[in-house]
Amino acid sequence: MQDIQNSQSNALALVENAENSSAIATEVETINPRDRAIEARMTELRAHHLVGQRYFYPFPYLCQIYHLLNLKHLESVHGFSLNNLEILQVSHFQSSEVGGTIRFKTILRSPLNILRLWRQPVVEVDLTLHDPYTVELTIPIYRGKQVTVLFNVIPLQNRGHELFIDIYSSLKRFKPLLKIVFHLASCLTVLEDLPYIRKLARRNLERSIELDKVSNHETMQLFKRFTELYGVGV
Ligand SMILES: [Fe+2]
Repeated sequence: MQDIQNSQSNALALVENAENSSAIATEVETINPRDRAIEARMTELRAHHLVGQRYFYPFPYLCQIYHLLNLKHLESVHGFSLNNLEILQVSHFQSSEVGGTIRFKTILRSPLNILRLWRQPVVEVDLTLHDPYTVELTIPIYRGKQVTVLFNVIPLQNRGHELFIDIYSSLKRFKPLLKIVFHLASCLTVLEDLPYIRKLARRNLERSIELDKVSNHETMQLFKRFTELYGVGV
């Protein structure tokens, strides 16, 4: 809890390496004592952990959740880091009692796209809302392996929030190199996201939710599910 109080005075987003995800589980537990299914998922993934990062934002946690669940921002905000990745279609949506999963097809059109080192040009990606604090992104890569990114968003009492990013991969080889690459890639996407999240903070998302003005577009289905379950958040 001391960490959380200290972070309230932090006005800028910053990054720290989180040595292991157990620290994250402890933070989450402190804030939210409910029995969280995500802890079982984190334990399951622990052996494949590559990167842990922690950021502080002076913006409402709802902005971070909106950003994570808005598929189209992968094209519009991450054009540089994802090298013009495109979303072809939403292929499946499954709601759950506490969230849901959206599956969408992505394509890397450029033959020079560096992401082709890890994945096929066309793959289906899963985005799962595990609970109001946790989003999981799963990307299939070569040889039946996966890269999984877990985002834990923890609201703070000053209307800011913390974001924990944990990256996992079932790839067994080149782990030291993968750690460096994923660490840098994550830092880059966070930098790209910062102006977007700041813009969202000015938009009064809470009002849009209360007036039921959230987009009904298929790429926003998971955020729509979030608002159905949790309104403007917890
Ligand atoms: Fe983003």
